[in-house]
Amino acid sequence: MSAEQASTGGLTPSQLADFWRDGYLVIPNALPPTTVEALLAETHKLLDDFSLSDHPMTRFSTGEKSDHVGDDYFLSSGDKIRFFFEEDAFSPTGELTKPKSRAINKIGHYLHALSPPFASLLDPARNPDLLGAGTSVGSAAAGHKESHPAAVARALGFKDPRCLQSMVICKQPEIGGAVPPHQDSTFLYTDPPSAVGFWYALEDATAENGCLSFLPGSHRWAPVRQRFVRAADGKSGTEFIDNTGPRFPVGDEYGGNNLEWGAKQADYVMGEVKAGSLILIHGNLLHKSERNTSQKGRIIYTFHVIEGEGTTYDERNWLQPPAEGFTKVYRTEDWIQSTKKRWTTEGLR
Ligand code: FE2
Repeated sequence: MSAEQASTGGLTPSQLADFWRDGYLVIPNALPPTTVEALLAETHKLLDDFSLSDHPMTRFSTGEKSDHVGDDYFLSSGDKIRFFFEEDAFSPTGELTKPKSRAINKIGHYLHALSPPFASLLDPARNPDLLGAGTSVGSAAAGHKESHPAAVARALGFKDPRCLQSMVICKQPEIGGAVPPHQDSTFLYTDPPSAVGFWYALEDATAENGCLSFLPGSHRWAPVRQRFVRAADGKSGTEFIDNTGPRFPVGDEYGGNNLEWGAKQADYVMGEVKAGSLILIHGNLLHKSERNTSQKGRIIYTFHVIEGEGTTYDERNWLQPPAEGFTKVYRTEDWIQSTKKRWTTEGLR
């Protein structure tokens, strides 16, 4: 371990090697139980309190044929807390078939700034439990102390990591939707690709309730062929377009084999994890999840980080930055002061 990793409480050399080899990494006990409880309580409060009366009843799916994704409620959610329904939460005539708190697929996309419990994960001053304490990752008593997102980002080599979106994904009992194989950089594209997902289980994620599955190593051979962008002139909503920019991050380890999209599906590895676990997901990695038809929910919290230094984030991306720019993961006093005003003005922090 380098001196920097040791001092920041980032990932161990063994964890880093696993991440770069597989394209994902499971870190058990990344969140202390008290933090998991606080985030679940906030989730249930948000689900109970939101109003249906002014909601456009937007549904969410990552499939191409969905008719909702283009609507303004989705496209302007980057600096708001908004609620997106499960596809199967409605009857054929369009009536909700579940209570609203059991019908939401996800909440997004600015929880990391506007919801204090979720914002605290990125804010060392608010969450000292997550600060590195110098003990080894995975030690039974103090494993979570090594997993502050800033320390993890530093260990992964980010120079100016920016959190650009956050979501609670509920994967509701009985109707939790499947997510087909995809790469997160399709949806969060930078030139060159740089996205990494931080995925926290707030409840146990199992084969039964639709945990993630990964295609290990696919981040090294699966190019980002498409981008999910705002529709071109004359059309509304969003569309998938061919990616004409770099399809891999910079590095000799990428490319080589030119396997077809979706190849080796049988080799997906299931990622069953306990509540409190963190899974890091490389932006080029193919991953998916199945439907949740069980009686158990599968609430998780995820945010994504991109490199802010030396990359381009263009205006075609569906998600555009808020007025203050994407949220710095390495906080400076200047940045805190310049963003505090807007958050305070909106009465949310
Ligand atoms: Fe994903």
